[in-house]
Amino acid sequence: MPNHIFIREKIKNFKKKIIVSSDKSISIRSVLLASQAVGISEISNLLESEDVMNALKMIKKLGVNYIKQGGKYKIQGFGLNGFNLKKNIVINAGNSGTLARLILGLLVRSKHKIKLIGDKSLSKRDFYRVIKPLKLLGVNIESNNNLLPIKISGTDFLRPIIYDENIGSAQVKSCIMLSALNTPGLTIINSKKSRNHTELMLKFLKYPIEIRSSKKIDKILIRGQKQFEAFKYKIPGDISSAAFFIVLTLLTERSQIIIKNVNVNKTRIGILTILNKMGAGIILKNKKIYNGEEIADIFVKSKKELNGIDCPSKLNSSAIDEFLIIFLVAAKAKGISKFKDLGEMNKKESKRLDIGIKFLRLIGIKVERIKNDIKIYGNPKLNLSKNYEIKNFLKDHRIFFLSCIAALTLGGNWKINDKNSANTSFPNFLKILKTMGAKIS
Ligand code: S3P
Repeated sequence: MPNHIFIREKIKNFKKKIIVSSDKSISIRSVLLASQAVGISEISNLLESEDVMNALKMIKKLGVNYIKQGGKYKIQGFGLNGFNLKKNIVINAGNSGTLARLILGLLVRSKHKIKLIGDKSLSKRDFYRVIKPLKLLGVNIESNNNLLPIKISGTDFLRPIIYDENIGSAQVKSCIMLSALNTPGLTIINSKKSRNHTELMLKFLKYPIEIRSSKKIDKILIRGQKQFEAFKYKIPGDISSAAFFIVLTLLTERSQIIIKNVNVNKTRIGILTILNKMGAGIILKNKKIYNGEEIADIFVKSKKELNGIDCPSKLNSSAIDEFLIIFLVAAKAKGISKFKDLGEMNKKESKRLDIGIKFLRLIGIKVERIKNDIKIYGNPKLNLSKNYEIKNFLKDHRIFFLSCIAALTLGGNWKINDKNSANTSFPNFLKILKTMGAKIS
C-alpha cells in the first residue's frame, strides 16, 4: 500500500454527525496510572493509536500485564513502583513526547538501569526540561546532550522538590507529578498553566493532591507514597482531532457538523475561543462531567466571513497543538492575524512553527515573522489550482492532517506523503473524511 494520498477536489457540502478518536493525552495517562494502581483497572474507549499502543507495550515490558476484553483494556497494576524488573532493559516511546516524558517520572525508584529510546522525530526533541527536575530529586540520568537515548536508574533516596515549571508544559508538570507519587513527603510544583488531565485523574482516583490556582500559576501539592485502587475509566473524544473537522466545516460552504462527546476541558479549548473570536460561532451542547473531565457535543456551521485575530498569548498553551490548523483559518480570514510567542511549536513532533509558515507561503499567503511572533495576511478569496506536494520529512501527524484539510477546502492538486503518520493519534481520520464525501485516492 502506498504511503501517500492524492486529493484533487474540494469536499462537497455536507451535514454530518461524527465521533472523532479518543483523547491521546488522557489515554496515555490512564494507561500509566493504571500501571501504578492496586488491582485490575478497566479502560474503555482507549485510543488505539500508535502512541497509546506504545504506552501499553512499554508497561508490559516493565512487568505490568494487560489484556483486551470486550472492547476494554484491563491492566493489572501492583501499586506504586510496581514495575517488576529483573534486568536492565530498553523501552521505546516511538513518536510520543508525552509517553517519553511521563514514563521517566515513574522510573525514579527503578532498581535497574532503563534505556529510553524513540523514533527519529522524538530523538531530535529536548529532554533537558525533564532531566533538570529529575536530577534535583536525586535520580541518576545519562543522556546524549539532553537528547535520547536516556539512561535512567532510580534510587531509594529521593528528595521531594519545590519546582517552578515556567515553560507551561503539561508533560514536564506531569513527569514531576508522577515522580512525586513515588517520593516521600510533599512535592510542590508552581506550574505555569497547561493542560490539567493528570491533576484531574489523580483527583478522580482520590489521590492526596491539592491545587491552589491563581491567575497565571497553579500551585500543585502532592503527598507521595499513597497507594490507590484500580479504577474504571472511559476516554472522551480528542479536541485536537476534532479541530481538523471543525475547520473543514467552517471553510466548506453550506455545511454543518456535530462532533459527539469531545473533551472540552478549559485547558484544552483555546481553539474554540480563538475561532469564536474570529467569528466562527461554534457552540457546545450537552455538557456533562465524566470522571472529572468536561465533555460536550460540538456544533459547527460553515462561515462565509471570518475575521483576523490578535491572539492573546495567554491562549497559547490551551491551543498549542491546534495552531497549525488555526493558521489555515487565518489564511482565509479577512485582515491580518497576529500570534505571539509561539516558540514551543518548534519543540513538537516537527518544527511546527517553521513548517506552518512555509506551508502558508506555499499556498500563496503572506507571512511576516519576528522571532516567534507572526503576522498572517488573510485572503478570503484564496482558491488554489496548482500542484502541491507535502513531503513531511519527520512524519508529523498534524502536518498530514493540516495538508488534507487545506486540500479539501482550498482546491488544487495535492500529493500528501506519510499517510501512516495519521496512526500516531487518529487512525480513522481518512475513513471519516471519506464517509463525509471527500474524494481521496
Ligand atoms: C501533551 C502536552 C503538550 C502537547 C502534547 C501532549 C500532554 O506538550 O503538545 O501533544 O499530553 O501532556 P507540552 O506539555 O510539552 O507543551
